[in-house]
Amino acid sequence: MDFTNKNIVVTGGSAGIGLATAKSFIEKGAKVLITGRNTDALDKASHTINSPALKTLASDISKMADIATLEQNIAESGHKIDVLVLNAGIAKQYSIEETTEEVFDDLFNINVKGLFFTLQKLIPHLVEGASIILISSGVSVSGYAQMGAYAATKSAVDAIARTAATELADRKIRVNTVAPGLTDTPMNQQTPEHIKTAIAAAVPLKRIGEAEEIANAIVFLASSEASYISGSYLSVDGGVTIRR
Ligand SMILES: NC(=O)c1ccc[n+]([C@@H]2O[C@H](COP(=O)([O-])OP(=O)(O)OC[C@H]3O[C@@H](n4cnc5c(N)ncnc54)[C@H](OP(=O)(O)O)[C@@H]3O)[C@@H](O)[C@H]2O)c1
Repeated sequence: MDFTNKNIVVTGGSAGIGLATAKSFIEKGAKVLITGRNTDALDKASHTINSPALKTLASDISKMADIATLEQNIAESGHKIDVLVLNAGIAKQYSIEETTEEVFDDLFNINVKGLFFTLQKLIPHLVEGASIILISSGVSVSGYAQMGAYAATKSAVDAIARTAATELADRKIRVNTVAPGLTDTPMNQQTPEHIKTAIAAAVPLKRIGEAEEIANAIVFLASSEASYISGSYLSVDGGVTIRR
């Protein structure tokens, strides 16, 4: 797959799945802009990827002013976007009874409102035939305990993706969703090993995923090899969703 001179934006590209995705696109010739809140994490990502093709921007997806800064940055670059990966997200695990308003608002402000308005503001900056990939989660279609509010945000992401695939089809823009299962990223650093082992045991492939494996699916959907794929929901989860 060749992305030479393609301009790519990955929200939440300083760690985990976003970082692996940015790295893969750069290895395939693209110019990539990654965002994140923490400037140290962005600097670390820059050091890890170590390429002039990578640019970073401190931008909190939950703040409309930061989304405006991202839009301005892209407008001033003079380049339209070929691939937009809406990946930035957070997870919080609480039962429905334990979920506070603050937890609920944090999840929805970042995973849904931030994603929605980033998409809205960047639509005018997409080339005809662009590809958009939204990062959902396998929990959007299953019923894991402790994941009620997070799962609801990801079901909202799926709905936004379906609508965008319809609305943007006239401009030949493809919109797809990647739904990872449990993946070994900083997001899961606090998850105790025995829980990860138990989850892995329930996966048909008997392990959790690697960030690079999710990135591979994202890169494929962004590529011309996926030219007739739009509106799809691609599970990348070792088969765990079919067990539910
Ligand atoms: N890992 C999994 O098991 C898993 C499974 C299913 C779905 N997912 C989804 O995959 C996506 C990536 O997850 P990950 O595991 O790679 O997470 P991660 O390792 O925690 O990385 C998240 C990235 O998003 C950025 N981010 C978080 N909040 C942000 C905000 N408000 N504005 C801008 N950037 C923000 C983080 O940087 P800062 O913190 O510096 O902002 C970081 O770069 C998320 O949407 C997540 O829900 C993950």
